[in-house]
This record gives sequence, structure tokens and C-alpha cells, in this order.
Amino acid sequence: MMDVRPTQGDSSWFTQDRFGMFIHWGLYALPARHEWIRNYEQISNEDYEKYFKHFDPDLYDPNLWAAAACDAGMKYFVITTKHHEGFCLWDSALTDYKAPNTPAGRDLLTPMVEAFRSRDMRVGFYHSLIDWHHPEFMVDKLHPMRNSPDRETMNLARNQANYAKYLHGQVRELLTQFGKIDIMWFDFSYEPCENLPGKGREDWDSQNLIKMIRELQPDIILNDRLDLKDGWDIKTPEQYMPREWVKVDGRPVVWEACHTFSGAWGYHRDESSWKSEEQLIQILIDSVSKGGNLLLNVGPTGRGEFDERALSRLKSMGEWMRRHGRSIYGCTQAPAEFKTPEDCRLTYNPEKKRLYVHVFAWPFGRIYLDGFAGKVEYAQLLNDASELKMDSVAKDPAQISSGDGTLAITLPVKKPNVTIPVIELFLK
Ligand code: GLC
Repeated sequence: MMDVRPTQGDSSWFTQDRFGMFIHWGLYALPARHEWIRNYEQISNEDYEKYFKHFDPDLYDPNLWAAAACDAGMKYFVITTKHHEGFCLWDSALTDYKAPNTPAGRDLLTPMVEAFRSRDMRVGFYHSLIDWHHPEFMVDKLHPMRNSPDRETMNLARNQANYAKYLHGQVRELLTQFGKIDIMWFDFSYEPCENLPGKGREDWDSQNLIKMIRELQPDIILNDRLDLKDGWDIKTPEQYMPREWVKVDGRPVVWEACHTFSGAWGYHRDESSWKSEEQLIQILIDSVSKGGNLLLNVGPTGRGEFDERALSRLKSMGEWMRRHGRSIYGCTQAPAEFKTPEDCRLTYNPEKKRLYVHVFAWPFGRIYLDGFAGKVEYAQLLNDASELKMDSVAKDPAQISSGDGTLAITLPVKKPNVTIPVIELFLK
């Protein structure tokens, strides 16, 4: 058993469920060329206003979103209540910069939370610490106005402590008006550069923020981007695959990889670097094989739909999950005594005592499992429950009984007709 750093929030469901949907939805869906365009193109509040005026998601039906997530096998979702641009999806009493004041004309968050909950999915809120629209947010190295000749004068009129109050006030709204919230996902703190400041725990008043959150929602899971050494529950590696179980100070932690289908998190019309369904399933398996989760992102369009590239990938993942969910849910890294065979990933269900061998490249004839001899009671292909014959091929028969030997499993010559085949091993 791994000695995993305990969490203050309730992560027991999280490490069972393993697969969630991230949703990045805001005004940036209209320019459709990255949720960071205010930063990339140094766009002022005035020039960004056109997207606020034209935000009209007339095809928005959160039941369709929830259905797509659920059918893909996802068990929770995390929605951007506000991204760095500062625009809020709910009817916050603390700002006018919100969906009800756009042509959308209504709170978009409540129906979404309801739709996902009605499918038994857990609810997470991503909330941006950064706010490029708020008048009290100090202009720093990431701010769209960082190169403005008026930068210093702008900052003289700003008070970051007032922004922190706004941030806390909005988090209070989010954690008191939408029922039980399972995850709070803040984004993010950053170092200064040259002559420009960054932002961190002082700017967000992180300690007090966490204190309030734990009081309002004691079970909530908190991510790690508030610039505090303690107080968080999960690490969130972004856009890369960790090479082993994520550790902090040498100790394994609860973790979740987050990934996009392509590059941007918001809807990006012209990106062509979309991952294949096979890569996406591999990313999910790889995360679980290292004890982690996958939070996979969709960026809905300005009309309020998932586009067909996202839908087709979710559908393929769902097809795979329908037959192979058993190797994902409730599973984790396999005990060290079981060596991972070439081109494979192992996951393990400790309660059921089953091991899953995910075969990324289908070998010819047999697969050899070192250290498995004498430990497996029964083997089958997971997709169709067809038996796989086993025999031990240890050089020395004594190895078999001591459990150190190699187990050979005979495979069909043809790869089963699923994206990634899985061998299910019932341990003795
Ligand atoms: C980043 C980006 C961002 C995205 C997020 C997701 O830090 O700022 O646009 O929301 O990560 O992890």
C-alpha cells in the first residue's frame, strides 16, 4: 500500500471515480482563438467589450453537456465560474460583468450544476484568481495592460486588497448558493519577472480564503495553486504526463492530470493539433496506472455547444469505457511486485484483487508477465470475457511456487477490435 498524503477534504470518491470533465466557457469562445487572448493580444477592457455585447449562447442545453460527459464515462465536472478575463457565468451580486447582463440574459451556472447533478456527477468550480477586468486588480506581468504607458498611474488607483475582498465574496457566493460543491479549483499564482510583479498568497489572502472555504464546505477538495505549502488536497499537473506517482517532499499525493483535446482550453476554431481517441484513452490509463485522475477539457462554442471534434472523441472514449471502466474506476497503481510488461500499463483494484494489463501495442502470440507466476487464478480479455490460457514459463520451477516466476498468457493473433485491449487478471 502506498503511503499517500492524507487530504483534509473528502477525496475518497475522487480516487474511485478517476475521470472528470473540465469545461472552459466564457466570452473567449467568441474570438475562438484562445482563452488567453486578452493577454496575448494585450486587449483593453474597452476593446474586449464587443464579446460581452455579443455573447448569446442560444443553443446552450446543459443536459446535452451532462449527457456527453456521462456517456464518456466521466463521473465529475469542473466548470470555469470565471476565467482570467473576469467574466462570471452566474448572477453574482458583486459585479455587473456576468452572463445575465449579456444577450444570454440569465444565470448559466445553475442549470449546468443541476444537469450534471441529475446524472449523479460531482460538481467542481474552477475559479480564476487572476482577473484582467477588475478595476482593483494590480497590473502585473500577465496583465493585458502591462505594456501600457499608463501602467504606473493605473496601479496608483488600484488596491489589491480590495480585489481580494471581491474574490473572497464571490467564492462565498459560489459555496453558499449552489449546494454541495465537491471541488474548488483555483488558478493561479506566479513569480514576478524583471521589473514586473507576480502574484501569490498575499495578493489572494490565501490563508483566510482557505479558512472560509473549509468552514463553508468541509468536505471540499482544494487544488494546489494558492501559493501555500499546506492547506491544499490535490496536485494538478497540467498538459504533461508525470513519469511516476506525483510526490511532494518525497511523499505520494492525491493528483489529477488536466489535459485539453488540442492546445487551448477555451473553444479554438482553427487549432489542428487534436489528440486521437487512442492517445486520449492512453492518457487516462496512464494517469490511473500512476495513481492519478484525468480531468479532460471541453471548450464549448459561443452558441453553447460542444463541437463535433469534441463530441466524436467523447463518444469513442465512452465506447471504450463502457467495456473497460472496470480497469479505471476504483483502480490505482499496481503493487511493485508486479512488473509492467513492455508496451503495457497496469492498474489494480485493491478491493477486488484484480490486475488489469492494458496492452498499448498488441504482441504476437503470447504476453509474458514477470513476477506473476503462481499469483493469478483466472485470466480473460475484458472486452468480451473470453478466457485467456495461462502457463508458467519460469526457468526454474521453484520460482513458480515462490511467486517470482514468469507467467505466459496466450493471446489471439488478431488484436481484439477495441482501441486498447485489456487483460483482466483475477489474483489468488
Ligand atoms: C492555466 C491557464 C488556463 C487554464 C488552466 C487549466 O494555468 O491559465 O487558461 O485554465 O491552466 O489548468
